[in-house]
Amino acid sequence: MLKLVLANDEKEISQKAYEIMEQEINSKDDVTLGLATGSSPEGIYELFRTKKPKTNHVTTVNLDEYLGLEGTHPKSYRHFMNEKLFNHLPFKETFVPDGAHPISGEEAAKEYDAILNDHPVDLQLLGIGENGHIAFNEPGASFDAGTNVTDLTESTINANSRYFKTKDEVPTQAVTMGIASILKAKKILLIASGEKKAKAIKELIELAPTETMPATALKNHPDVTIVVDKKAASLLNEKQLKQYSKMSS
Ligand code: PGA
Repeated sequence: MLKLVLANDEKEISQKAYEIMEQEINSKDDVTLGLATGSSPEGIYELFRTKKPKTNHVTTVNLDEYLGLEGTHPKSYRHFMNEKLFNHLPFKETFVPDGAHPISGEEAAKEYDAILNDHPVDLQLLGIGENGHIAFNEPGASFDAGTNVTDLTESTINANSRYFKTKDEVPTQAVTMGIASILKAKKILLIASGEKKAKAIKELIELAPTETMPATALKNHPDVTIVVDKKAASLLNEKQLKQYSKMSS
């Protein structure tokens, strides 16, 4: 079931999402958080850095990693997470798929599924791609897949090229949690801001689950909260806003 929470802007998205995550952290003695990279969660991680909630009992598992990048590479997702969050707070354990596995990406995926098995996710944070991807599950990705090696689409390479000097430097493959792995989380929290995400949010609300629009798989999950700002919600009509909105302040 999808619940929509409307925020005024990106800052408010971060605040609302942080509150939901903090509540989860404080709800029990042993918590596993599923985390995401990208620009959307940056404000949330900033709040973690300033508010410093207790995290010694929190294990984290990240969604994905570029294939071919060592965790020490400045553009790797492991490096991003270390810089934005893990270097600042004492987590119990932190996991990110190994993008430079000595055997293969497929082996890294297999090992990551074993890690996910041992650490069922209580709350999974997600962004959404302009093309509707979640993690690196691009349009057409199977809803039945566990962690896997995937090719990045042109749309994703273009969107992510802003982090690299040139587009040619963007890795073309990644190790990603699959849709089936993501849906195993007890709760899911998706955040989206800005006009660029409006079409994906509209499709997520309007389409029945279809592999051509990966985020629609979330409609098969019992507990999904979507926090969006007005721009990302700008293509939804009044009826849709009312139907899906849990609160708006
Ligand atoms: P973004 O990426 O947060 O950088 O917009 C989200 C995504 O592609 O999943």
